[in-house]
Amino acid sequence: MSAELSAETRAELIRAAFAARRFAYVPYSHFRVGAALLSKDGRVFTGCNIENAGYTPTNCAERTALFKAVSEGVTRFAAIAIVGSLEGKTNDLVTGPCGVCRQALYEFGGPSLVVIMAKSEQDYIQTTLGELLPYGFGPQNLEIDPE
Ligand code: THU
Repeated sequence: MSAELSAETRAELIRAAFAARRFAYVPYSHFRVGAALLSKDGRVFTGCNIENAGYTPTNCAERTALFKAVSEGVTRFAAIAIVGSLEGKTNDLVTGPCGVCRQALYEFGGPSLVVIMAKSEQDYIQTTLGELLPYGFGPQNLEIDPE
């Protein structure tokens, strides 16, 4: 899928991630994250990070998008775009998915999932989940097909 992701689709995902970031609930970290997940059937699911006074229940933007999709019966994904920055600041660094999100995404995206970590539509790093989570442990290890 990596080679098949058009510039237009990438830009659309980055825009959708920025739009989702507006809803980030971040009273504790003030770090706003948005994600846009493209399913293999061409649908886009967005998510933001949702923090909690108990800290531990905080949900990352990537998992918000993923769980929205899976809860609607969509389980196969081609790409995800992620944008993040501290409130009121522009990004010096791209926001990469945390370890928990890499594992959660691996379940349904596998190593070929395209991951776009963007500062803007023009400034991004595009890689794959296989690069970010080498030798990932997934359903195939348990001889399970998540579809
Ligand atoms: N966060 C995400 O939403 N996604 C990531 O990939 C990195 C971290 C959130 C969690 C928390 O709300 C805030 O960023 C600071 O860690």
